[in-house]
Amino acid sequence: MDLYNILEEVKCVAREVGAYQKSMMGRIPKVLTKSNEIDFVTEVDKKSEEMILSKIVPLIKDSSVLAEESGLKTTDSDYTWVVDPLDGTTNYVNSFPIYCVSIGLKFKDEPILGVVYAPELDYMFSAIKGEGAFFNDEKIRVSEKEELRASFLASGFPYSKLKDDRFKKYFNSVITKISGFRRGGSAALDICLIAKGVFDIYFEVSISEWDYCAASVIVSEAGGELIKYKNYEKGKDFIISGNKKITTELIDVFESL
Ligand code: IPD
Ligand code: CA
Ligand code: CA
Repeated sequence: MDLYNILEEVKCVAREVGAYQKSMMGRIPKVLTKSNEIDFVTEVDKKSEEMILSKIVPLIKDSSVLAEESGLKTTDSDYTWVVDPLDGTTNYVNSFPIYCVSIGLKFKDEPILGVVYAPELDYMFSAIKGEGAFFNDEKIRVSEKEELRASFLASGFPYSKLKDDRFKKYFNSVITKISGFRRGGSAALDICLIAKGVFDIYFEVSISEWDYCAASVIVSEAGGELIKYKNYEKGKDFIISGNKKITTELIDVFESL
């Protein structure tokens, strides 16, 4: 399997789909909802996913797919594409320019390749397992910060927050122990910004595999990590990602709750 070639192809697809998303910003005729009234989906999410899958699935014969809008399609292959066609839909429908295309590839259960492209910023993150992480073709590393109290934290809030406010316990426990906090609205991009040394740490209590699969390869290859910490909601993961010195400290804080 020539993963280098596949990576270049996937980057081209992400750029093409990103250009389409950028061209549609602020021009979406209809916004629909999914799990509840704050969980949005648009025709751009759906069309983006169709564009991505039509181009990446043929790159690996009979590969399986887990994609946000069309779900899981399994084959006998050991390779699975894990796709979030538009990560940051709430930002997108409000014309806030922080969103991205996220395309990951797993071999069996292990993420081995990731591409995250943010069209408005023209930020291209990519990685192959064992080969380092790249930002617009420059090698990147996580920050060197050593302490939670000096850290710049990113996080997100689950769509289930309307009826389940357990996430507040975790958020409140950390917000007074850090130097700064941002809620970017695109988990994949937030995690890639850890890989670039912008953020030091990220956690989210309830997130789907398509939100973080691609970014997990990128942050791991940049010297950081992404841990599935515990179960919070069925079918979702509570994840912690960051510079390894700080993830340990954050876990200690959560363990003491
Ligand atoms: C969401 C974003 C958000 C995160 C949510 C995700 P979507 O993805 O990544 O930052 O907090 O948990 O579901 O719905 O915009 O693809
Ligand atoms: Ca997402
Ligand atoms: Ca999405």
